[in-house]
Amino acid sequence: MTGPTSSDNLEELKRLKDEFTRFMMLYKFGIDEITTKLNILKEEFTQIHDYNPIEHISSRLKSPESIIGKIERKQYGQDIDDIREHITDIAGIRVTCSFISDTYKVSELLTSQQDITVVKVKDYIANPKPNGYQSLHVIVEVPVFMSDGVVQVPVEIQFRTIAMDFWASLEHKIYYKYDKAVPDSLLAELKHAAEAASRLDAKMEHLHGEVLALDRATTS
Ligand code: GTP
Ligand code: MG
Repeated sequence: MTGPTSSDNLEELKRLKDEFTRFMMLYKFGIDEITTKLNILKEEFTQIHDYNPIEHISSRLKSPESIIGKIERKQYGQDIDDIREHITDIAGIRVTCSFISDTYKVSELLTSQQDITVVKVKDYIANPKPNGYQSLHVIVEVPVFMSDGVVQVPVEIQFRTIAMDFWASLEHKIYYKYDKAVPDSLLAELKHAAEAASRLDAKMEHLHGEVLALDRATTS
C-alpha cells in the first residue's frame, strides 16, 4: 500500500502547528507594539498637559475558534495567506477615552507616527451604525521585528468614549442573550439609549471645553 505513513502525517501536523503558533505570535506582538505606543502617549500627555485623554486600554487576540467561525461565515479562502489578507481583527485593541475629541486626538497621535500605516478607517462616531453603535475603528499595520526579518502586522483599534463603551457592552450582552434575534421593541429602546449616550457625550464635551477655557483664563 502506498500513501502517507502515520509518521508523515505527524510531521505535517507538527509543521502546521508551528506555522499557526508563529502566525498567532505575530499578532500578539502587534498588540504589544501598539499598546506600548498608546501607553507612551498616555504617560507623556499626562506629564506635559497635566491631563490624561485615555481612560482605559484593553486588548484581545482573536481565538482560533473565532477565526475559523469568521472564515466559514464570510466564505473566505482557507489557507494562512487568505486569513492574513481578510481577517484584520485578529489583533484587537480598545481605547476608551474621556471625551469624543480625545478619541480623534489619540487616534491622530498614533496614526501619524512614522512606522504606522493606516489600512482602513471606519468612523462610526461621525456616522453611527443603524442600531446606534458608535466608535472610531482604525486598522493599522505596525512593523514587528523578528529574528529573521520584519513583518507588517495588522491591528484593529477601536477608539470610543466611556458612554459609547457602556452602550456597546450592554448591546453586545443583549445581542448574545437573544442569540442575535433581539425583539424589535428592545432594538428601539437600545437605539434610544444610544442617542442618550451620544447626548451625554456632547454635554460632557461642552463641559470639558468650559473647564479648559476657565483654566486658560485663570492662568493667563
Ligand atoms: P466583524 O466581522 O464583526 O469584524 O465586522 P466588520 O468586519 O463589518 O467590522 P466593523 O468595523 O463593523 O466591526 C468590528 C467590531 O466592532 C466588532 O467585532 C465589534 O467589536 C464592534 N462592533 C461593530 N458593530 C457593533 C455593534 O453593533 N455593537 C457592538 N456592541 N459592537 C460592534
Ligand atoms: Mg471583529
